[in-house]
Amino acid sequence: MLHTNLSVNEKGHLTLAGVDTVEMAEKYSTPLYLVDEERVREKMRTYIGAMNKYFPEGSMPLFASKALCMKKIYKIAADEGMGIDLVSPGELYTAKVAGFPLERAYFHGNNKTDADIKLAIDSGLGYFVADNREELDAIDRIAHEAGIKQKILLRLTPGIDPHTHAAITTGKVDSKFGTAIETGQAFELVKYILTLENIELEGFHCHIGSQCFEIKPFCDAADIMIMFMAKIKDRLGKLTTTLNLGGGFGVRYTEADPHIDIDENIKLIAKHINDTCSRFEFEKPRILMEPGRSIVADAGVTLYSVGSVKTITGYKSYVSIDGGMTDNPRYALYQSAYTVLNASRADQKPDFTATVGGRCCESGDLIQEDVEIKKPERGEKLAVLVTGAYNYAMASNYNRLPRPAMVMIKDGVDTLAVRRETYEDLVRNDMD
Ligand code: LLP
Repeated sequence: MLHTNLSVNEKGHLTLAGVDTVEMAEKYSTPLYLVDEERVREKMRTYIGAMNKYFPEGSMPLFASKALCMKKIYKIAADEGMGIDLVSPGELYTAKVAGFPLERAYFHGNNKTDADIKLAIDSGLGYFVADNREELDAIDRIAHEAGIKQKILLRLTPGIDPHTHAAITTGKVDSKFGTAIETGQAFELVKYILTLENIELEGFHCHIGSQCFEIKPFCDAADIMIMFMAKIKDRLGKLTTTLNLGGGFGVRYTEADPHIDIDENIKLIAKHINDTCSRFEFEKPRILMEPGRSIVADAGVTLYSVGSVKTITGYKSYVSIDGGMTDNPRYALYQSAYTVLNASRADQKPDFTATVGGRCCESGDLIQEDVEIKKPERGEKLAVLVTGAYNYAMASNYNRLPRPAMVMIKDGVDTLAVRRETYEDLVRNDMD
């Protein structure tokens, strides 16, 4: 199957981490997010192991929690010794109430408010990844009020195009994120930071984009960043010691996508960085990376119940499911490819071409078009694979649909990680 945690049991049902997905759908109802906890932990260990092995001391992966944010994931990250990347006060709050040690947290975002900055400083945040001058002034002022010197990384745009979907490219010069090296503005901003008394500039951050299968863009970005760090040292006398390369390793959504060997990629990037540092006679910085998708995507499967199976004679067929763009907006937003199968008859050959439609009152509410599946009947369970990243995290209540539950599987045991929203949850904030 597409990933090693997927299989088919004697009933012909799809299994995830050895657990019957159809039984899970019946037990917890649908739509349902299922997550293989062991797979998440394995991925975290792979990143930690490789980064410890190939990069200088202090290097560490930060889980990009925008890919999957709920209390349990922060507990797992804390347990495994990961750092985290946060992008909003809501993520920060979730990590805090989950008991994550916030000194290992890095707070991103291109527009942090004063209230966000204060909340983070009061919560004992380790680092801000600062984006712009206005924000630097605010951090400096709020750190002064709190009587601390705040550690930061500065986000830069190295001007790399990683050849991924335009909406998930972020390292190009005209990006809304960070400050451009190419225009000279980054150098000027560093000069300014060095005048701020309550900020300690420890290093720099860049993120080129997401779902990247090649390592060249990471190596190119690292070169530009290291050259910049060397220039800051030579011209401004400031040695910065941390380089954060962001996230972005791709994952295999369908058979057409390649497998990625995380350990091997990190090894090659490390070798490249070591060569560049020697070339510029620059002390090797500690390296941070921010994997999100590649940690959680293939741990997840979404299960739906089939409603109607409709064939428009001479045109196409639709299979309607009890979820849709509200629990997985990625096809509607990016035409993202997914593998879909009839989980109730996963042992049978596909015999039907269908477009899988959600239940929203919107014709673009599709999960996938023209997939080959075993023709389902009403009530059978449909599985969409590799949904662990950017599904629950991007879910909405459009059409007043409650968000699904999430169940984690570990050692063959299923545990509710997020309960299903109720109709009462939906009206909780409405005034009479
Ligand atoms: N670090 C930064 C600064 C980022 O902007 C991102 C993703 C990551 C790390 C994690 O990247 P990953 O390892 O997950 O590729 N909603 C889109 C993805 C947007 C990603 C934005 N930034 C999707 O569903 O594909």
